[in-house]
Amino acid sequence: MEIHIAIIFLIFGLQKLKAEIINYRLPFVKAAALDGYKAETHQVTTDDGYILTMHRIPSAKNSSKINKYPVFMVPGMTAVSDCFILLGNASIAYTLVENGYDVWLTNPRGNKHSQKHVKYNAMEDKEYWNYTIHEMGHYDIASFVDYIRNVTKKDKISGMGHSQGTTLIFLLLSSRPDYNDKLNIFVALAPSVYLNDSLISVMKIVGKYSNFFDHMIREVLNIHFLPRSLFEGMETVCNSGPAFFSLCRALIAGFCDNLDYGVNLDRIYDFKIFNLAFSHMPSELCIKMVMHYFQMIDSGNFCKFDYGQLQNTQMYGSSTPPRYDIKKITIPVGLIFARHDLLIPLSGVHRISKELKNPIPYEMKNKNYRHVFYLFSKHVKKIYPFLLRILRENTLME
Ligand SMILES: *[C@@H]1O[C@H](CO)[C@@H](O)[C@H](O)[C@H]1NC(C)=O
Ligand SMILES: *[C@@H]1O[C@H](CO)[C@@H](O)[C@H](O)[C@H]1NC(C)=O
Ligand SMILES: *[C@@H]1O[C@H](CO)[C@@H](O)[C@H](O)[C@H]1NC(C)=O
Ligand SMILES: *[C@@H]1O[C@H](CO)[C@@H](O)[C@H](O)[C@H]1NC(C)=O
Ligand SMILES: *[C@@H]1O[C@H](CO)[C@@H](O)[C@H](O)[C@H]1NC(C)=O
Repeated sequence: MEIHIAIIFLIFGLQKLKAEIINYRLPFVKAAALDGYKAETHQVTTDDGYILTMHRIPSAKNSSKINKYPVFMVPGMTAVSDCFILLGNASIAYTLVENGYDVWLTNPRGNKHSQKHVKYNAMEDKEYWNYTIHEMGHYDIASFVDYIRNVTKKDKISGMGHSQGTTLIFLLLSSRPDYNDKLNIFVALAPSVYLNDSLISVMKIVGKYSNFFDHMIREVLNIHFLPRSLFEGMETVCNSGPAFFSLCRALIAGFCDNLDYGVNLDRIYDFKIFNLAFSHMPSELCIKMVMHYFQMIDSGNFCKFDYGQLQNTQMYGSSTPPRYDIKKITIPVGLIFARHDLLIPLSGVHRISKELKNPIPYEMKNKNYRHVFYLFSKHVKKIYPFLLRILRENTLME
């Protein structure tokens, strides 16, 4: 008898679960519509042939009036535009829309929304995956900015990034300084540039041997990207029982760098949102691009990809890769960071802050606030007064 009841509950539970999972997987525009927003999809082709997708939310709930102030957001490594709305009405994207911003959520090359190319097939051609952080900042972000300015007919727009998204915007503004004239402010969530003081020792070790790993993975094993399919179905597994849930929780905790005990995850995160995130990320990961990060963790420099002395000399005219000069950034830069974010060393944030002409820092001291806080924690509302103030001050001044 009990068994029958248990089975009925199980079936009922699984049915309910299925409905929720289908909900999770909704394409961006449909998910936004469920939340009451009319979203648009836009595509742009970069100068080197990558076809990228942006999701735009131009108007407040139940409104058809297009907001006046465009702001674009760039997601972090393996994340996608969808991650910016998972928190529903607490999310950064919807909050900005409700406060008068025309929000553009971008997807740089390699992620699931942006895998088309004029010449290459991402799933078959290794040439597609032959890029570093440089191309992502230099071409992708520039194309987003040009496209948005063109469509909105605004001379200046605002930019925001999370983690790798910040690296790419820092890169564009320092390697193509004319882009400083196209933005009024850049807000960096978890500013990710100087990473050599990383508190995660594994990262330092991989960094030290990154050239060896790069050679092994790309040349010997002929692997150029990690496919999404490795993680497909993760959210289903995580939801299929308490034991799996605990396991996933531990994995997620590791993923969001809460490796040390004593952090109260339950208070900070709604784990439903984490599981939901698994239906979108991790997206495909480009090996060469990741290796570029490990080189930066090893060297402590913000510079182009290191091909080794010989090829560096041929490509760059110097035996070491040229550095990006943060001092060339002239616009105000909001730096929002958490003291206990293990991926982003505090010393690195201080170093950027010193080099910038106009830094506006905001430090969070709560030890529970970590790297993915901005995407998945309802507590993220705490940054909104600061965020909205610096955006307002720098967009209305025009
Ligand atoms: C938006 O419209 C829906 C249905 O038309 C309504 O239920 C909801 O209350 C409206 N929301 C706002 C914020 O006006
Ligand atoms: C956000 O949504 C929650 C739950 O759906 C609701 O309780 C809350 O009032 C909403 N907040 C705003 C600002 O709309
Ligand atoms: C990848 O790019 C580098 C540098 O531009 C070039 O030397 C190399 O030949 C390219 N490899 C492939 C497989 O396209
Ligand atoms: C800007 O828009 C015009 C007309 O819509 C188009 O012809 C042009 O190619 C666009 N430029 C860019 C940089 O997108
Ligand atoms: C990181 O790099 C900076 C600048 O080169 C240097 O001052 C600092 O000592 C480095 N930290 C570590 C742990 O190597």
